[in-house]
Amino acid sequence: MNLGIIGSGGREHALCEALSKSKKVDKIYCFPGNAGTSKIAENILINTDDFNALKKFILSKNIQLIIVGPEKPLVEGIVDFFESINIPIFGPNKFASQLEGSKIFTKKICEKYKIPTAKFGIFENIDKAKSFISETKFPLVVKADGLAAGKGVYICENKDNASNAIEEIFNGKFGKAKHILIEEFLKGEEMSYFIVSDGKNIKRFQTAQDHKRVGEGDTGKNTGGMGAYSPSRLINKELDEKILEKIIQPTLKALKDMNCIYKGFLYAGLMITNNEPYLIEYNVRMGDPECQTIIPKLKSDLLDIVLACIESKLDQIQIDWHDINSLCIVLCSKGYPDQYKKDMIIKNLTKINLDQNQKIYHAGTKIKNEDIVSNGGRVLNFVNLSRTFKKARESNIKLIEEINWPNGFYRKDIGFNVIE
Ligand code: AMP
Ligand code: GLY
Repeated sequence: MNLGIIGSGGREHALCEALSKSKKVDKIYCFPGNAGTSKIAENILINTDDFNALKKFILSKNIQLIIVGPEKPLVEGIVDFFESINIPIFGPNKFASQLEGSKIFTKKICEKYKIPTAKFGIFENIDKAKSFISETKFPLVVKADGLAAGKGVYICENKDNASNAIEEIFNGKFGKAKHILIEEFLKGEEMSYFIVSDGKNIKRFQTAQDHKRVGEGDTGKNTGGMGAYSPSRLINKELDEKILEKIIQPTLKALKDMNCIYKGFLYAGLMITNNEPYLIEYNVRMGDPECQTIIPKLKSDLLDIVLACIESKLDQIQIDWHDINSLCIVLCSKGYPDQYKKDMIIKNLTKINLDQNQKIYHAGTKIKNEDIVSNGGRVLNFVNLSRTFKKARESNIKLIEEINWPNGFYRKDIGFNVIE
């Protein structure tokens, strides 16, 4: 069958590669993909916000299944659009995608269904928000409601920080703001928890921990993710059961009570404190770079999993995993997450030979005059499967040094929590 994948990051390259191994797949089209996907699929430059343009192409190439990587098209209703014309598509619909698209939507579910999360208040103007922070304890967290590409969250140590955050959000930094969310600051360690759901059944899809800050020791600005490792060091049977019982199941029940089913990957961003899970946020997709970190551990055919979800038969398949550790390091353009150059040639990439435990997934890359050049802030993902996280990290670093890209930088300390 012919597949279409929406997205251009490392996550989509990892999904594309895993799907390309399925015997059932004839051809994959990536909208728009990157230099990595262009080797195993055909990249198509169509504006993915334009669902009608996508539809025209998808019908013309007889694409029988669409897999959506990023949140934006999901939140904008791409699933509803293609389901209405009977083209199978993997991901949650517009209503369910509010779990990521509106933090307030999720918080209200948490409140009603007693899902453990940070205490919060919702404020509809600057004055009310400021009056609240004048009489509360710090640190606290100020959040824009809608999608903000990971930037709409301010951890505030004092009143001045919080005041500034409130003004930026209400002044439209992340689009028009009708409300703002102010939360208690949760202490603990973060974990990314994934499931897949077919609307009736769910299956676990591994855990990971990512490093969001640009600097070593988890310092500096927030980024899209500088690296990750899987499994999370925090997961154990008891915690796993608590997450399913206290967080995932009540959320799916809440959606059901609103006449909505959830199909696709669901990513719970959790804070773990004394083996108790608290929901920080939901994402209605795989994580990036968690996807790149987790997918190489998958033994089962990814297409079988996706098809089982589409057909609501997830209970009839088993998802098998390699019992091994995985660690991913992201090679970024110097300057990221601020200003960085594009179109910088990555010379040595084609000279590298990978063994079966090594992967290089492209993110911000493209082909220009037959060269692979950078096309974004996060450029390449180096993933290694190994018995130990230490070995996985060393092997990744060795590869990155071999490539020796003068315009790149990376964190050498990914996984420091699990590596002495
Ligand atoms: P979010 O976009 O909601 O994932 O927030 C981005 C990051 O901010 C999270 O990954 C956490 O590191 C941090 N964060 C968000 N909410 C809280 C909270 N209530 N307490 C502590 N840290 C938080
Ligand atoms: N790794 C964080 C995210 O995908 O949002």
